[in-house]
Amino acid sequence: MTWQVLIQSDVEPYETVTRLLAAADCKLHWWRGIEPPEDIDYSIIDGIFTYGHFAVTPELMARCGQLKVISNFGVGCDHIDQSGARALAIPVANTPGVLDAATADLTWALLLAAGRNIVSGDHFARGPDFRQYDPAALLGQQVTGATLGIIGLGRIGYQVARRAVGFDMEILYHNRTHNEQAEADLGVRYCGLDELLQQSDFVTLNCPLTPETTGLIGARELAMMKPTAVITNAARGPIWDQEALLACLRGGHLHAAATDVTYPEPLSRDHPLLAEERLVLLPHLGSATRQTREAMSHMSVTNLLAGLQGHEIPNRIA
Ligand code: 8YV
Repeated sequence: MTWQVLIQSDVEPYETVTRLLAAADCKLHWWRGIEPPEDIDYSIIDGIFTYGHFAVTPELMARCGQLKVISNFGVGCDHIDQSGARALAIPVANTPGVLDAATADLTWALLLAAGRNIVSGDHFARGPDFRQYDPAALLGQQVTGATLGIIGLGRIGYQVARRAVGFDMEILYHNRTHNEQAEADLGVRYCGLDELLQQSDFVTLNCPLTPETTGLIGARELAMMKPTAVITNAARGPIWDQEALLACLRGGHLHAAATDVTYPEPLSRDHPLLAEERLVLLPHLGSATRQTREAMSHMSVTNLLAGLQGHEIPNRIA
């Protein structure tokens, strides 16, 4: 049986995705660009495979006449209207767990890069001004022994906290619910958002993007942070107000920031954030390791095929 699959991507998918879909006899209908194309016969679409962050609306779901499943290559599903899918009884699945370690590692790369001036140091070491070693140049913020505030202590946040134990950090967290397991295992302490921002030397955003977390960190919250603090975002751009962040960095409040995510993604090439030296900026590399991409490929295609075949979907979230 040939399955008709709508795949949303502007780029060629990771090779294992392509291979697994072909082996499962999936005929791909390509959605490139922002809007769903008009030259597709949506009435025959059996499944949607999202590879990137295009919006999947209830209108699109309803338009796909025999839609059986929406499978997301990734864990964050803020681009998929999950309540709309529930109302239409269309299962949605994602790839939890397999990318926790890679994303936690990348969070630490951001934190260390911003705290210890790794990117500006690299530029300086290559540039014309590095003529003599100066022990007082490019001083960073001490990581070992500092206080870390984790906003969002789910699976990825837990892995970030585990790594912080090795840096002898005091670990605070703010979350929808108390994570008693993490408190027992790692000695992390729950606190309100304001207290976390005021007490932490390093703040990391690891929560999903939801209506409650959109704009969670704005000018007021940034102003509460220590002037020497570092903030990092390995979650989703809209969790913080990036214009407020830019104003804050330009005004000299905060030591530095680092982010793997922006809105939109990518930013326009003349966006002022690109010129901000105290911001470390990455192109959404959180889960971008070969090992993790392999695992995400298998998990997302398995979810898709289970939904197409009417079987129980292993990682169903809606
Ligand atoms: C993925 C991510 O690479 O899983 C997520 O939520 O943000 C990334 O790690 C991305 O979603 C792939 O489109």
